[in-house]
Amino acid sequence: MGYAVVSLGLTKFYGKLLAVDNVYFNVQENEIFGFLGPNGAGKTTTIRMLTGLTKPTKGTARIFGHDILKETLTAQKYFGVVPETSNIYDYLSAWDNLMFMGELYRVPKHEREKYGRELLEIFGLYERRYDKVKGFSKGLKRRLTIAMALIHRPKLLFLDEPTSGLDVRSTVIIRNIIRKLNREGVTVFLTTHNIEEANVLCDRVAIIYKGKIVAIDTPEKLK
Ligand SMILES: Nc1ncnc2c1ncn2[C@@H]1O[C@H](COP(=O)(O)OP(=O)(O)O)[C@@H](O)[C@H]1O
Ligand SMILES: [Mg+2]
Repeated sequence: MGYAVVSLGLTKFYGKLLAVDNVYFNVQENEIFGFLGPNGAGKTTTIRMLTGLTKPTKGTARIFGHDILKETLTAQKYFGVVPETSNIYDYLSAWDNLMFMGELYRVPKHEREKYGRELLEIFGLYERRYDKVKGFSKGLKRRLTIAMALIHRPKLLFLDEPTSGLDVRSTVIIRNIIRKLNREGVTVFLTTHNIEEANVLCDRVAIIYKGKIVAIDTPEKLK
C-alpha cells in the first residue's frame, strides 16, 4: 500500500516562534490518522503547510507521491480540506454553497449536481438544501463544510478539529460520517485536542507537543 501523506521535516517559524519543528510522519492509504495535541501545539499550522495555505520554513511533504512545493496543483487535486473555522457563505443556501465549491474545483455541472445530491443525503441535509445557511446550527454548518470538501471526490480528507465545539449528537453524526467515508476508501487526516476522539476514531495517532511529534502509534499502544 502506498502513502497518502509523507511529511519530510516540515518546519514553520513565525518570526522567532518555532510552531512546527522538523516533523516526520507517514499516513497510509486508507487509514484514519490523527494529530493529537493541546492548543498551540502546531496542528493547524501543519495542516496549513500540507494543504498549501502556508509555506514551510523548511522541509516538504508528499501527497500521494506529489511534492507539495514542486507539484502543488497536482497534489491539491487529491485532497479536500475542512478548516477549523468554516468557509461557508451564510447568505447562500446549502445547495448553492456546495455548487459554488464544485465550480471552484471545476467539477463538471452534471457531476457536481449528482454528487452534491448524494452528499446532502449522506449528511442529512437534503431536506434543508434550499435554506440559507445563516439559520443552521453549528453542527449542520460543520456537516455542510465537510460535504463541500468532498464535492470533487478527493481520496484524502484533512479535517481540522472536526467536532470541536459541537454538541454530543452532532459529534456522533460527524464521527460516523468520517468512518463511513473511510470505509468507502477516503484516507483521513484529522487533528484533535481530545484524547477520546483520537481513541475512538483513529487507526494511528501522532502526539504533537510544542511543535514536535513525541510519539506515533495506535491508540491502544499509546495508552
Ligand atoms: N499566523 C500566525 N502568526 C504567528 N503565530 C502563529 C500563527 N499561527 C499560529 N501561530 C502560533 O503557532 C503555534 C501553533 O499554532 P497552531 O498551529 O494554530 O496550533 P494548534 O492548531 O495545535 O492549536 C501557536 O503558538 C500559535 O500561537
Ligand atoms: Mg488548531
